[in-house]
Amino acid sequence: MKITICFTVLAVLGFSCLAVAQTHNYFFGARIPYDSLANQTTVIQSGSFLRVKSLNIDYPSKGQRGRNITAIYVYDRLGGGRGGYASITRGGIGQNFTRINLKSQRGNGMNFQVEIYGR
Ligand SMILES: *[C@@H]1O[C@H](CO)[C@@H](O)[C@H](O)[C@H]1NC(C)=O
Ligand SMILES: *[C@@H]1O[C@H](CO)[C@@H](O)[C@H](O)[C@H]1NC(C)=O
Ligand SMILES: *[C@@H]1O[C@H](CO)[C@@H](O)[C@H](O)[C@H]1NC(C)=O
Repeated sequence: MKITICFTVLAVLGFSCLAVAQTHNYFFGARIPYDSLANQTTVIQSGSFLRVKSLNIDYPSKGQRGRNITAIYVYDRLGGGRGGYASITRGGIGQNFTRINLKSQRGNGMNFQVEIYGR
């Protein structure tokens, strides 16, 4: 009986460790046939003590025509659960422009690879 409880506790602890160590990837929309990569950009920021870093990615660049966006994939390359957060604050899927806000966790940096697909 005692042994069973011990194993259960270990299993639960192990599971939460895995959950905590997850990467902060974000996937908006879905790719469709004949779409392609419209823009790819990597954002690297170092962490600063007790500070939250925040910045926006705008697509398309000023004066450029935007494609119809099908998917936005944000890959967290920092890992270890230290990665930041991504959200779409303007435009997005089914539109020809978007703004993606990237935000670090307090005191942590960020290393995001952002891929925007369109057709
Ligand atoms: C992709 O986006 C970045 C950041 O907005 C920009 O500097 C770059 O010129 C864009 N590249 C292409 C191929 O549109
Ligand atoms: C988005 O599409 C609209 C309607 O087709 C067009 O007027 C506008 O210039 C486009 N914007 C961009 C950023 O491509
Ligand atoms: C993008 O494609 C979707 C689906 O076909 C359509 O509803 C939408 O109006 C399109 N948007 C633009 C900006 O062309």
